[in-house]
Amino acid sequence: MSSPDQRPTQPPPPSEGGQVFVGHGKLILFGEHGVVHGRPALAAAVAQGVTLRARQRSDARASMLRVQPWGLALDLGGPPPADAGAQQLFRALKVAREMAGEGPELVMDAEVSVPGGAGMGSSAALGVAVLRAFDHSRCIERDDEAQAARALHWEKVFHGNPSGVDNTMAACGGMAVFTRGEALRRLHPPHALRLLVGHSGQASSTREMVASVARQFEEEPTRVTPLFEAMRECVESATAAIENGATAFLGPLMARNHELLRQLSLSTPALDEMCDAASAAGALGAKVTGAGGGGCMIALVDGEDAAHRVRATLAQLDKQVFDVETDR
Ligand code: PMV
Repeated sequence: MSSPDQRPTQPPPPSEGGQVFVGHGKLILFGEHGVVHGRPALAAAVAQGVTLRARQRSDARASMLRVQPWGLALDLGGPPPADAGAQQLFRALKVAREMAGEGPELVMDAEVSVPGGAGMGSSAALGVAVLRAFDHSRCIERDDEAQAARALHWEKVFHGNPSGVDNTMAACGGMAVFTRGEALRRLHPPHALRLLVGHSGQASSTREMVASVARQFEEEPTRVTPLFEAMRECVESATAAIENGATAFLGPLMARNHELLRQLSLSTPALDEMCDAASAAGALGAKVTGAGGGGCMIALVDGEDAAHRVRATLAQLDKQVFDVETDR
């Protein structure tokens, strides 16, 4: 028999046979940044996200989380990892473990199928899956909105002052208009939207971009307030277009929203070039998505021919491209 102070020499084997929990990835279609300042954002969950398998630890040690393909193994019983990104995740896991309260410790194996740092909500999707696993081990059932609210605490570890749109879409799925402090307005589009996500190859920090917009707002409220209001109008018009299946109306609204983001210095020459190239290649519309300042743009396409041309054009610019279909 092993004594309690003996550490296992091997990490526990992958949690095969455990329960599976999911969190959705997402894209912001309209209204990013305005949403931090109380305006609505229109967002869609995507098929990609996080699948997490969890089982109770048989050795009563602290909970652990392994994440593929990031190659991370975080053990709450050990010291924090040296790497800064892994450290944030370790802190978030601690927050989740504290929220879970008394109960079993878990071995969790997560598979992330959304690209990280692409504005596709990988951290929120992971948070939702982890919180669901802890809840299940304690026989607690929560609805999606309640889970989303809890996942905001996880997101704060990464993003400082998140609006809550990522964790809400990660928990609730579908397509929706999110406004801070208001009930989620779920949309029921007649068909899914097909998007290409192009990565600029430039790193971007959501925390810094949000802080930059907050600074601009503080210093020049009379310039910035109308930009936020115009973002709201984009969201409202896009909502009507989506609900009526009038996809073609979305293209000009994307161009308008992109221009508003540009006026807040959230685009870059590379992102502008990608949006222009996608539109010239036949996308209905294109814009920055998420925090901007690098990261990703989205192009809305109708049909495989257009998708092929836009994909090829972005690849010619040497950019990584992901195919995404919105969840309904
Ligand atoms: O880059 P992402 O996907 O985390 O999106 C950030 C969206 C912002 O509106 C800029 C911030 C927020 O918290 O909503």
